[in-house]
Amino acid sequence: HHTTANPKPVFIVGFMGSGKTTWGRKLADKTGRTFIDLDEVIVQEIGMPIAAYFTEYGEHAFRELESRTLKNIAPDLPAVVSTGGGTPCYFDNMAWMNRHGITIYFQLPPKALWSRLMQTDIGTRPALNGLSGPELLDYITAKLAERAPYYEQASYTVNQLAVRPEELIALIK
Ligand code: S3P
Repeated sequence: HHTTANPKPVFIVGFMGSGKTTWGRKLADKTGRTFIDLDEVIVQEIGMPIAAYFTEYGEHAFRELESRTLKNIAPDLPAVVSTGGGTPCYFDNMAWMNRHGITIYFQLPPKALWSRLMQTDIGTRPALNGLSGPELLDYITAKLAERAPYYEQASYTVNQLAVRPEELIALIK
């Protein structure tokens, strides 16, 4: 008999490369919640990769679409939602997530984000502006400093290098 004590959605926030999607999926599986990848919902809706949407319509249009898509998530759905790296930083998205669910910030130092992002396809991430190498590290460091004040508004901050799945599960029970 499987019940979710807390029916509110869980929103995972954090920088690109912090493991939101990988861990969000695991967490949903282990707790019987529905997994939602916000970027994936947007891609389904627009029918093109996010990078292509950025190029064609610009970042502002993307941010409006992202905010609308976020706020369309049913407030009574016991889901784990992995958000985009920029989601909490625009409009009132962070306050909205705090009002409607449980928020968890996956925190990682710039160097760890950098080495993870260097291993992925940088071209699919428009927010990285095609940078690589030491320039990418500088960019991540600056961007994280700008975004941290939003991420830090989350109900919980976890060190993503040290956290164990059981600890995360305990947070949302
Ligand atoms: C972005 C992060 C991406 C995606 C978009 C913009 C950002 O999500 O929403 O490319 O501004 O940090 P991930 O954090 O899942 O890569």
